[in-house]
Amino acid sequence: MKPISLTRYLIEEQHAGRINADLRLLIEVVARACKTISIAIGKGALGGVLGDAGSPGAASMNIQGEAQKKLDVLSNDILLEANAWGGHLAGLASEEMDHSQPIPDAFQRGNYLLLFDPLDGSSNIDVNISVGTIFSVLRCPDDVTAPGDEHFLQPGNTQVCAGYTTYGPSTMLVLTVGHGTHVFTLDREIGSFMMTRRDVQVPAETKEFAVNMSNQRFWEAPMQRYVDDLLQGKQGPRGKDFNMRWVASMVADVHRIITRGGIFSYPLDSKCRDKGGKLRLMYEANPMAFIIEQAGGAASTGRQRMLDVQPTGLHQRVPVFLGSRDEVEQAVRYHREHD
Ligand code: AHG
Ligand code: MN
Ligand code: MN
Ligand code: MN
Repeated sequence: MKPISLTRYLIEEQHAGRINADLRLLIEVVARACKTISIAIGKGALGGVLGDAGSPGAASMNIQGEAQKKLDVLSNDILLEANAWGGHLAGLASEEMDHSQPIPDAFQRGNYLLLFDPLDGSSNIDVNISVGTIFSVLRCPDDVTAPGDEHFLQPGNTQVCAGYTTYGPSTMLVLTVGHGTHVFTLDREIGSFMMTRRDVQVPAETKEFAVNMSNQRFWEAPMQRYVDDLLQGKQGPRGKDFNMRWVASMVADVHRIITRGGIFSYPLDSKCRDKGGKLRLMYEANPMAFIIEQAGGAASTGRQRMLDVQPTGLHQRVPVFLGSRDEVEQAVRYHREHD
């Protein structure tokens, strides 16, 4: 049977009363922007899009303290431009911008807030490894017409939509509007995202973990113990051999887990302790947590359900454990037993 398009899926969701027309069109606009980013990435060196942004020898820095890649800036611009005039948004916030931006007065404003990581895994772009875009949609508070940063500080459990696109051998969009998680693959000839997996379910158990092992000596005690036990394999307390994978693009690592299970972790370590973690709550951890929970998985900071964290800052960072439900529970148990 021919797969249905993203457009048809969204119209069916609208007819079922699960989303309204504004949210449907907002998602279409984001998906279209992701197609544009996909085309830019696909051109690679021929498109002159690789390498650092800024002037030679002096890359521009973002608010995260990271050197920006040309594609970080380009992807941010594509998402900003595409979403400014749609009429469905009140404001936008991004990893690459110091502050959120209300929709300019010249355009019609809507009721939603959009947050995004325009290019995730950008350290991988110059070596032709999968990268992605992550996004999250919140409601704008009723009485607010020109939202400021504070209006974005809503816990992840209030998200109305979250998704990511992975630009790999194929371009895929993984989406939830709170009724399951669905996978779409970009048909490059037609130019449409087509549904290739409906209601994907992350297996509850796994033998695969994803973590940057080079940080091991900087981790907290419960994380050290958790991974020590994984590495002992069959002879150890976990009683099974584990495999490890680390792409260093969160999108690609999470997509593997969506596809075949696993646990992804970016824990607290002594290098990122002062910042609260490495990954950003609002446009990395929360959207991924929503997507994973809707696929039957779990997401935690190690000490709290991710979606219940009350944000205190737009660029706030958190420790992340997400993926197969039983394995995330194991990681949480090590933290609980230690604290
Ligand atoms: P970004 O490229 O959006 O700044 O995010 C990078 C993140 C995430 O994608 C990945 O999981 C992690 O950083 C990689 O960290 P390491 O450099 O420690 O591997
Ligand atoms: Mn970055
Ligand atoms: Mn990222
Ligand atoms: Mn990024």
